[in-house]
Amino acid sequence: MTAQNFPFDPPTRRMSRRVALGLVARLKRVAGIRVDPKNQQFLTFRLDRRLQALDLDSYEDYLDLLEGPQGDAETARLVEMLVTNTTSFFREPAHFDWLERTGLPALCEAGAGRLYPLTVWSAACSTGPELWSAGMVVDQASRLVPGGLRWGLVGTDISAGVLRRAAAAIFTATEMSGVLEERRRLYFLRSRPGAAVGNGQRVYRVAPELRNRASFVQANLLQDLADVPLADVIFLRNVLIYFAVDDRKACLAHVTARLRPGGYLILGHSDSQQGLPEGMVACGPSVFRKGER
Ligand SMILES: C[S@@+](CC[C@H](N)C(=O)[O-])C[C@H]1O[C@@H](n2cnc3c(N)ncnc32)[C@H](O)[C@@H]1O
Repeated sequence: MTAQNFPFDPPTRRMSRRVALGLVARLKRVAGIRVDPKNQQFLTFRLDRRLQALDLDSYEDYLDLLEGPQGDAETARLVEMLVTNTTSFFREPAHFDWLERTGLPALCEAGAGRLYPLTVWSAACSTGPELWSAGMVVDQASRLVPGGLRWGLVGTDISAGVLRRAAAAIFTATEMSGVLEERRRLYFLRSRPGAAVGNGQRVYRVAPELRNRASFVQANLLQDLADVPLADVIFLRNVLIYFAVDDRKACLAHVTARLRPGGYLILGHSDSQQGLPEGMVACGPSVFRKGER
């Protein structure tokens, strides 16, 4: 490896304000994500290696590429490079406690899991920990019901890259820090000590019994979501914070259209509730219930 392509080399190309504005506007238009155009350092740190891979000398050339015939494919890559994918197992744990103690019992009482399959949707699932955390909670509830529940998981994200990782369902020991030992034993396979995976760390893979319950769809929350199955519980956490008011409102309208009447929408604790459609009633820690029609 040469000094030139060492992955942590500082960016070598300068970005003009005109290009920063062009990139930021494109990101907002396509994904709803707001980035401050003054934050050129963030943009160049995320994008410089892409320019190197494309053998482009300047960000002006990159903007031309985005605006040219291959623009759509490259814009998808741009979004992948600029979105924030931070996530973890049982993040904001009050939501999972609420689901276990209040949400799932109420849904089951109303017939979900018996009269029709209960569906939990992680609507910006990133690499999957939110989806798999919910899966563990539903499975534990299902074990308490004679004959078990019928249920499934759906994960969606705008980024194809994180969806591939979510579906592979492989996590390092560090990523697993939020998962209790009892759940690790029940729901994960572990690599053998010393196996050549995970950069020397032990890795864990979600067990097939859970994996077989999950499906993944690439979906932009700013667009119509008719391809996503109707859900009883929707996790929409830590993505609205990146959106402007108009996009937040559109996203909430699209997402709640896929929520069954009587179902629950769970927002992140830092997400604004502004723009929630009428008929969504607060009923838990940043949890909202969709009124019956
Ligand atoms: C910070 S992560 C949140 C992950 C998870 N919900 C959590 O709370 O741990 C935000 C995710 O939203 C996704 N995202 C951003 N804009 C999106 C859009 N317009 N449509 C769908 N997903 C989007 C990103 O790709 C990223 O994986």
